[in-house]
Amino acid sequence: MITRYFQQSLVVLMRVVLICAILVISAGIAGGAAERSPSAEVESGAWLTSGGDWRQSYYSPLSLINASNVSGLGYAWSYDLETTLGLEATPVVVDGVMYASAPWGFVHAVDARTGKRLWRFDPQVDASIASKACCGVVNRGLTVAEGRVFVASTDGRLFSLDTKTGKVLWQTDTIIDHSRGYSVTGGVFLTKDSVVIGNSGADLDARGYVSAYTIRDGRLQWRFFTVPASARGPFENPELKAAARTWDANSRWEVGLGGTVWDGMAYDPQLNLIYFGTGNAQMLNQELRSPSGGDNLFVCSLIALHADTGRMAWYYQEVPGDQWDYDAVAPIILADLTIRRRVRKVLLHAPKDGFFYVLDRANGELLSAEPYVPVTWANRVDKVTDRPMITEQADYSHQPRLVFPGTAGAHLWQPMAFNPTIKLVYIPAIEAGDVFWMPKQPFVYEQGAGNRNVLNEWPTLSEGKLSLQSQESKELPPLSELARGQPDPTIRGFLRAWDPVENRVAWQVETSDRWAGETNAMANGGGVMTTASGLVFQGRSTGYLHVYRADDGQSLAQIKIGTSIMAAPMTYELDGAQYIAVMAGFGGALGGAAPEGTAAYRYGNAGRIVTLRLGGGPVPLPPEVSHAADFPRPPLERLGTAELVERGNELFRRNCNRCHLNTGAGGVVPDLRRMSAQTHAEFADIVLRGKRVSKGMGSFAQILSEDDVNAIHAAMVDAAWQEYEREHPAPHSVPHAVEPDRSR
Ligand code: HEC
Repeated sequence: MITRYFQQSLVVLMRVVLICAILVISAGIAGGAAERSPSAEVESGAWLTSGGDWRQSYYSPLSLINASNVSGLGYAWSYDLETTLGLEATPVVVDGVMYASAPWGFVHAVDARTGKRLWRFDPQVDASIASKACCGVVNRGLTVAEGRVFVASTDGRLFSLDTKTGKVLWQTDTIIDHSRGYSVTGGVFLTKDSVVIGNSGADLDARGYVSAYTIRDGRLQWRFFTVPASARGPFENPELKAAARTWDANSRWEVGLGGTVWDGMAYDPQLNLIYFGTGNAQMLNQELRSPSGGDNLFVCSLIALHADTGRMAWYYQEVPGDQWDYDAVAPIILADLTIRRRVRKVLLHAPKDGFFYVLDRANGELLSAEPYVPVTWANRVDKVTDRPMITEQADYSHQPRLVFPGTAGAHLWQPMAFNPTIKLVYIPAIEAGDVFWMPKQPFVYEQGAGNRNVLNEWPTLSEGKLSLQSQESKELPPLSELARGQPDPTIRGFLRAWDPVENRVAWQVETSDRWAGETNAMANGGGVMTTASGLVFQGRSTGYLHVYRADDGQSLAQIKIGTSIMAAPMTYELDGAQYIAVMAGFGGALGGAAPEGTAAYRYGNAGRIVTLRLGGGPVPLPPEVSHAADFPRPPLERLGTAELVERGNELFRRNCNRCHLNTGAGGVVPDLRRMSAQTHAEFADIVLRGKRVSKGMGSFAQILSEDDVNAIHAAMVDAAWQEYEREHPAPHSVPHAVEPDRSR
């Protein structure tokens, strides 16, 4: 196998050299053949990295499946991933074997012809880390090179596994301080001789950094911090000294300040540069974070580092002084585009902030930045200064403001795809805004916990009307007033084909379906993949895989998978047959609620890989789940005083509602208003003593006291009664320990 692999590689290498030569000549630019790297192989029929190859474009050169036969796509095999947590990764196929990463950092090696398990790797994670996974215990991908699989576990260990057996060849702890809110959800990426990894936690109290380890033995090669530790250092990398001048000397350094690198990266083997984006600033409000303002480098920035040294080649900050949770972490695509009659090696980026950025990836020059959704935080990106013109509407420090995009962003981790023949980028885009406002309570830093210190909410449809629904929002002016003169705040999702040269929408399909206006409108459209045969594939939370014509968006097929999909599909070819595969399973940040109409609601959320080929039959569906029609009568009476409930709601907002959205529609993460008598009895054991830890509900013992948990419990029981009484308006003889809510 190994020999054959090398032979194939050699053939491929020659082919690549030839293609590069043609490209170089046709582009009329100087340069040698591509320097090969593990991540740069273009093995025919394989899918070698999350995004297919080193360009991370979610594009396949395969074309056996095309517009004329795609309607015949059907079941090949499926594989049970043994989890109900969110699935966000795209598998890799090398040499007839599919490698898939699952929540916690599990790896499944599967025969790509049959779906038979070859081996499974369990990283043995202490599941209490789940309390630090801001947006669900998920994993966004592994990578394969030199006979090894590289993957990160949620607790931040990086593993090198033998591709044949799954045996650990080396492992290393990549987290510098476990008392802080660090976890790892992102994929790992390869350079010529190292594996590069970031981490998550900018909604808690992490200070962002990336690390590079040698492929061979896992030795730390370099580490790059994205924000300074303090105004006076230590400056672990020289760039931080300059960065420190963009922060107030009295910034809240103890909060970590964010900038975590938790998703997209890409490596250009010719330039030998590794690219990544940095996350939001923490805490969100700048007046508290860095009182005199400043750009707060390097939050919300694209960064290019020299892969050998970890020294910076260039950076471009997309959102100076971020106050809106606008991570710049969305997946990065490397492409060649002809712009103003010059072929440029570009980096394409569609981050949460709503602008589509095209940069020259050799030197970081901004070539264009145009909005691909409604944007109100900035008027435009100025062509002279390359800086966004930030608006007054974006400043919520003294009054509540509706700002577009909201914290869910215009586009996030769901991979977009670029088709180099058609020259369009396919973006799973969201149109939505958030109302931001400041909490009344003074900020208190809590180590390892949520420290955003801003209140925010997207307006959603309720009883046919758009409104804010949280308890805290009741103190705000009506939405109609906040939305006056602003774009329509109805949440919508689109699959948007974007022309990155002309900067316009070439075609689009609305993906909100029945959920326009509801939170699920944001979660319905998954990651995208495109092929040389002119197809675009996208999965939905409805459990369908949609296929469109890449040049005009015409719908070609809808294949019922029966499991909600968020991840991007991939494709590979073996023995003359082309396969399409996708990891199907709902969850993570936005897939926390699975309302009626989602496959997760109808068929449950058992995660699986579903693989399709031409001539296969219908995909076997999971058994249907039965749903109690009514909101259940809470099994216990209200607990405690109005003050206790209020404190509980505040603690819930800070620690729990990033997963427990409590939208009431049968979520993937339980609605705590629907707890059974048994769960009520075990409430403190679950929250403080890890009783459901293996299912993704971590212990909060480091963060919360017994009293805190009682308060949250009282708030949940109160919320359950409120919902029950709303659904059953007939008079009840329910004892009210809590006074009526006067704010209504
Ligand atoms: C990182 C995501 C996450 C966070 C944050 C989180 N939970 Fe959970 N929680 C889960 C998941 C996933 C489950 C489902 C476990 C299962 O299937 O039994 C769960 C289950 C529960 C349950 C059992 C519910 C039932 O009906 O079975 C309780 C109680 C609970 N969580 C309380 C809390 C409280 C209180 C907080 C805040 C202090 C919190 N959780 C924060 C993910 C989270």
